Amino acid sequence: MNSILNHAKKEATPSKKLQEKKHRIAKKVCDLLSNCIEKHPQVVGFELGGSYAKGTWLPEKADIDIFVKFNKKTSENDFKKLGIQIGFQSLKKYKPYTRHAEHPFVEAIVDGTRVNIVPCYDVNKGEWQSATDRSIYHTKFMSQKLSDAMKGEVRILKKFFLHIEVYGAEMAKEGFSGYVSEVLISYFGSFEKIIKKISELKKGEVIGKSIKKFDSPIVIIDPVDNNRNLGTAISIDNLGKFVLASRVFLKNPSKKFFKKPISKRIMKNADKIIVVQFRFKDRSDDIIWGQIKRASNALKTQLELGGFTVLRNSSVKDEKENAALMFLLHAKKIENSLVRVGPEISSKDHCEKFISANLKKSQLMWINEEGKIQSLQKRKYDDVILFLQNLLKNNLKNSGIPKGLAKDFKSGVKIIDASKVSTKSIKEAIASIAVTDETIFR
Ligand code: CTP
Ligand code: MG
Repeated sequence: MNSILNHAKKEATPSKKLQEKKHRIAKKVCDLLSNCIEKHPQVVGFELGGSYAKGTWLPEKADIDIFVKFNKKTSENDFKKLGIQIGFQSLKKYKPYTRHAEHPFVEAIVDGTRVNIVPCYDVNKGEWQSATDRSIYHTKFMSQKLSDAMKGEVRILKKFFLHIEVYGAEMAKEGFSGYVSEVLISYFGSFEKIIKKISELKKGEVIGKSIKKFDSPIVIIDPVDNNRNLGTAISIDNLGKFVLASRVFLKNPSKKFFKKPISKRIMKNADKIIVVQFRFKDRSDDIIWGQIKRASNALKTQLELGGFTVLRNSSVKDEKENAALMFLLHAKKIENSLVRVGPEISSKDHCEKFISANLKKSQLMWINEEGKIQSLQKRKYDDVILFLQNLLKNNLKNSGIPKGLAKDFKSGVKIIDASKVSTKSIKEAIASIAVTDETIFR
């Protein structure tokens, strides 16, 4: 185990050369930013943050996060406007662009490194005004709490998360953020201790202390704000992967767990997958992800109401405005009839109503062993493509699909078999629901 972990730590630690390169880039951006903020009295200063400032970054994933601190009296409007303006001015040589989280921020690629300039308010601990205000305190807390050895452990844990494909707390991933990796190491001390703990994880386990009650599958309290549960962002699927992977690793420790994820190219079960593919007009990541996830769940419900059994559903979007909702079904074609269960014969009025409403539609009507009236009827749609086509064409409004997607759907939505998909990002997403994950199921 030790030699494997030493090896992993080596791989996860950036070389001297890379460290120097990052320092050069960070210094360059800080100099640009210094010049720029002088003109803005609302700005109190700025700080390097994120994994770069804490020394927990991975060689292959080394973005630089910089937080620009605004006087807490700055209006919401100025905060947004100036935050963007300052980001654009200071990074103007590097083709900056806006990205949207709770508040917009600016990103650019500087000499091959992703640099984020994020506005936040300069507030006392606990008096948060925007979602990014805690970050400065995260940096302070972790810089004090994590020894050099523990930073190495954070890096090992991040590598492990990358290998099992659960790294990142953004909506697209719903996994474990870089910050969660640090929090776990700060609570447990080492990668090995965390793996042991997670391999024995109990339902609803709480990591950290809070008087508040949370009900996510795992609760991880932010040490900087014990009213915040970092576990909310983690899906049960990703938590499950972490649990199973921890058990597999403990049984059979291997260097493989810190390498790139195994690509899933072979397509299995594609004959059971139906894809609703469309293009969307660009909008912020959080918004589009919220919309397509809701759409996917809404269609799952509709499919089940229509008699189809949905085993798994998922959704995907890429940078080229392609999106898709995917459903792994028991079968794409189901029995062409269904049984409607009516009332017990003792409920006189209900029986009368049921009989008059269903008799004409019935191929057969009878009373079952429980004394309930049964009606065998022809299904309107026994083919999933026809079912979805009708739903999206004639019943979009009542389908539960978010209003915000109606336009995108109207300008062209395709319902196709998985085997006919040609878009790369969608094909990959299909593979990830159609193939058993061999990293965790052994
Ligand atoms: N952050 C947070 N909660 C999240 C994501 C981010 O509080 N779910 C804050 C943390 O303070 C974090 C900072 O935003 O340090 C920067 O976020 P990000 O770049 O995503 O994470 P890093 O910690 O820098 O990790 P990575 O190595 O992946 O960049
Ligand atoms: Mg970062």
